[in-house]
Amino acid sequence: MTTDATASSEEALLSQSSTRSGDVADSRLSPQLARAVRALAARGAVLLRNEDQTLPLQASEPVALLGRVQKDWIAVGYGSGGDVNAPYVTNLLDCLREQGVAVDSELAALYEQWCQANPVDPGTEWGKWPLSFPEMELADDVVAAAAQRARTAVVVIGRAAGEDRESVLEPGSYYLQDAERRLLEQAVRSFERTVAVVVTGNVMDLAWAEELGVDALLLAWCGGMEGGRAIADVLTGAAEPGGRLTDTIARTYEDYPSAGHFGDPEANEYTEDVFVGYRYFETFAPEAVLYPFGFGLGYSQHEITGEGVELTEDGACVAVTAVNTGDLPSSTVVQVYVAKPGGGLSQPVRELAGFGRTEQLAPGEGEEQVIDVPWRDMASYDDSGVTGHRFAWVLPAGTYTFYVGSDVRSAQAAGSVEVEETLVVEQLEQAAAPAADHPFERLARQEDESGTIVRGSEPVPVSEVDLRERILSRLPQALTPAQGEGEPAVRFEDVQAGRASLQDFVVSLSPKDLSCLAYGDVTMDSPLGAKGNAGALGGVTQELRALGVPPSITTDGPSGIRLAATASLLPCGTALASTWDPEAVEEMAALHGEEMAALGSDILLSPGMNIHRDPLCGRSFEYYSEDPLLTGLMGSAVVSGVQSTGRAACPKHFAANNQETNRIFNDSRVSERALREIYLRGFEIVVTEAAPKVLMTSYNKVNGVWAHYHYDLVTTILRREWGYEGLVITDWWMRMAQDPTFPALRDSAYRVRAGVDVLMPGGDKHFSTVRDDAIMDSYGQEEGITLGEMQATAAHVLRFLVS
Ligand code: BGC
Repeated sequence: MTTDATASSEEALLSQSSTRSGDVADSRLSPQLARAVRALAARGAVLLRNEDQTLPLQASEPVALLGRVQKDWIAVGYGSGGDVNAPYVTNLLDCLREQGVAVDSELAALYEQWCQANPVDPGTEWGKWPLSFPEMELADDVVAAAAQRARTAVVVIGRAAGEDRESVLEPGSYYLQDAERRLLEQAVRSFERTVAVVVTGNVMDLAWAEELGVDALLLAWCGGMEGGRAIADVLTGAAEPGGRLTDTIARTYEDYPSAGHFGDPEANEYTEDVFVGYRYFETFAPEAVLYPFGFGLGYSQHEITGEGVELTEDGACVAVTAVNTGDLPSSTVVQVYVAKPGGGLSQPVRELAGFGRTEQLAPGEGEEQVIDVPWRDMASYDDSGVTGHRFAWVLPAGTYTFYVGSDVRSAQAAGSVEVEETLVVEQLEQAAAPAADHPFERLARQEDESGTIVRGSEPVPVSEVDLRERILSRLPQALTPAQGEGEPAVRFEDVQAGRASLQDFVVSLSPKDLSCLAYGDVTMDSPLGAKGNAGALGGVTQELRALGVPPSITTDGPSGIRLAATASLLPCGTALASTWDPEAVEEMAALHGEEMAALGSDILLSPGMNIHRDPLCGRSFEYYSEDPLLTGLMGSAVVSGVQSTGRAACPKHFAANNQETNRIFNDSRVSERALREIYLRGFEIVVTEAAPKVLMTSYNKVNGVWAHYHYDLVTTILRREWGYEGLVITDWWMRMAQDPTFPALRDSAYRVRAGVDVLMPGGDKHFSTVRDDAIMDSYGQEEGITLGEMQATAAHVLRFLVS
């Protein structure tokens, strides 16, 4: 094995790396953050195959690199989640050389010349970026000659993810290009050992690795500016590949439960219901799994043993030990799954209930982890009343069995707890359920005569809510002044300094000023903030600023601060989640918060928290997992880290933004149970664990209603049930529409009644510099927007500015 670069040489290397754009010498970027990016990119890399310990590479052993992505490395996806002005990006070829690996120079020279002569076309049109890059063909004798000089080939395959478009079921996207397949075949034929490194934002077909007999398969993800260096660390053994899959990888795309109901431009019925990802595969189709959820190899082995399950006041507590039984120091992830009784509800055979990453354990060393599983993480939501408790989180009576291990499939039973009688954990009310005019059937777990689990179906319960009555009975009342008559006028600085109450300031505002707080500063790249920002909110008019209300500046996003200035490029969301290491992610996010302060970003439009429902979704790279608990804990880590520096994070896109095709019109039709257990659960965790200051709605409709007009999502569930007190903003621009429940309302008036505070960036359509007038137009009309509603909205904005 070669040795690791020291911290100081890393700093020196930061300034020599292959520069893509920007100012390398920007002193606002911290080498400490670059080091964290490097460590996390290695920790998130998932080793899926490693026959005969092909990896790590042996010290001083010559290696032949094949595939252009060795040089044209894919550091991140395209679109708002990737468009960061990175100071540099690393690539595998340079970094292996940097670490002293004897890279075959003849092949390397061929690739360097070819890549220079055939530069990657990054695509200039939004959403029309490349999905992969054309590959260079190698003659058989060239490969055979290289195999005389090196025993091991490393073949690098790359896939680019991106916003506003999906991956497609074609060569060069989900499938291998013919030229890539030929390279792999040539490598396997000629070299003693072949390593495939897949650099991708989204999951692609990986069945070829087994089929072609590739010895080692490393899923490198997109690791940001330090990705190339991190993967060099992993290949040389300077770092262990620490990643565990956050999604099931199926044998074929058609095996995914969403496959028949994904990509329709108008609407998709989520017929798989709660059976998303491993919940489906482990229950109904275990044979369709290539690599199970939670799986990933390290350079050592661990024995993971359950040490007992106990009941606590708040739930269950599972004790687990992990012992390093291999020869190298290594850390592992202990995973706890639960099998729950149904009480009439269709339950997956296993659900993730908790996990913990061990320290780096020396060979022979063990560590005990105690995983607490609160009742709420074991509960199910009954949307039909089958348990006798409709619209409640329930614990059906019966045995809750816990499994511990290193992935969902191999986890072993560790003990159980009994629930004597069905318990109601939380009684709620029906909200956001599918509309009665769009009924559909969902997958249900049934058993045949032999007791084998089979696929059944049942109708999805539809909405019975009188939304009009619900909203009218809960309209916010107008505020009254807390201070006495004749007191001096309140300025916002007084509120910030604690000399006056927020309520008094809100009461003092005119309806016009109140309404202005409900819009951003109209366009992206607001002149109120640093060049290239995503927009401003708060003090967006002269009048508001004259009262002391400051503007607050938003920037994308999950992989780094998107500004004209240079900013650190982080590992993509899936790479971060694959670390299963929320503590380390939180530390990195805190360093990122400091960079926000240095660059002039107040609100980071991150984390992306939508569920990986289907592997073709173009933005999966920004998101974390098919599992809501893992999603919620990773999102909480990012929010806590960023907000520990006084900046704000903004989880997005709330909710069920699971495809990019026609994303601004598409309707996600999903049962209330699947919404609450899968698609909203991550957001619920982040709200209750990390209290994000801002939250962004999604573009799509949820059960027929655009998320930015969705009263039940934003007011009933987010604010009333989860107690969210922060600011809610739209995704960038919204669809103008009349409120079907209150025809006097349209556009922003419809939005404010739903509880969505600020239209971002503020214009009435894409790139418009004009705001809609709907709030002021409806104010004073019968059933129009009330003073209380405007004040409540303004108070959310102003409370955020004080925080
Ligand atoms: C994306 C958001 C992003 C916003 C601002 C939208 O197109 O969906 O995720 O934060 O643009 O750039």
